[in-house]
Amino acid sequence: MNLEKLKSDKRMPKHIAFIIDGNGRWAKRRGLSRSFGHKIGFNTLKKQIDFVHELGIKNCSIFCFSKENWNRPVSEVNYLMELFDNMLDEYFEKYMDKDVRIIISGDMDDARLPETVRVKAKKIMEETKNKTGFILNPCINYGGRQEILNAVNQIIKSGISQVDEKTFNSYLYTAELLPVDFIIRTSGEIRTSNFFPWQSVYSEWYFPKTPWPAFSKKDLVKALKIYMSRNRRFGEIKE
Ligand code: IPE
Ligand code: MG
Repeated sequence: MNLEKLKSDKRMPKHIAFIIDGNGRWAKRRGLSRSFGHKIGFNTLKKQIDFVHELGIKNCSIFCFSKENWNRPVSEVNYLMELFDNMLDEYFEKYMDKDVRIIISGDMDDARLPETVRVKAKKIMEETKNKTGFILNPCINYGGRQEILNAVNQIIKSGISQVDEKTFNSYLYTAELLPVDFIIRTSGEIRTSNFFPWQSVYSEWYFPKTPWPAFSKKDLVKALKIYMSRNRRFGEIKE
């Protein structure tokens, strides 16, 4: 695979997002626990983030945990929280002296989140906020409708009586990110599940059948080629 050619292609997305789906089914099919599926899924995530970074893509969002995921068994939720806690420690160490900004999109004030996760998430956002390079945006305890309502309520509180798209956007968790060009949801589920309802109106979507733990660099290259072959018109007609 010729990565240099891919990297220098002007059609490459600037912001890519992943809905990481299929961890549980991947594990169950192998007679393993769902939690084990998440563990392997998080290894896949690390590799994919490094690859996205290496490819020069400026922003990467990942839907890690939705507001609706609290309805899963407590043991699974607790395991996921442990993974996020470890992930925050790892990113902190890995990226502190690099030009990487970390934004965690989601409700970080929710008391259901372990305090360590809330504190670490806020710290990492604060300490990387002046970096201008790659932006990594794990979405944890995220729901698109809740994000919109949160923005509306903040706007009401601030006393503004009318907003335009630009102002509204500035109240979202993703305010500082580039427009989302490309969203990949693995595992063959074809729905958007409350992810980026505002941000994704002109995104290209791709739904590979591969479950997330098995999603490889080769799969990402294939996805990028599909993305680049699409004609994004944004409602215009170009002669
Ligand atoms: C997605 O995999 C991972 C997270 C929610 C963190 P799932 O857990 O949704 O896996 P399936 O869909 O049950 O296979
Ligand atoms: Mg799922």
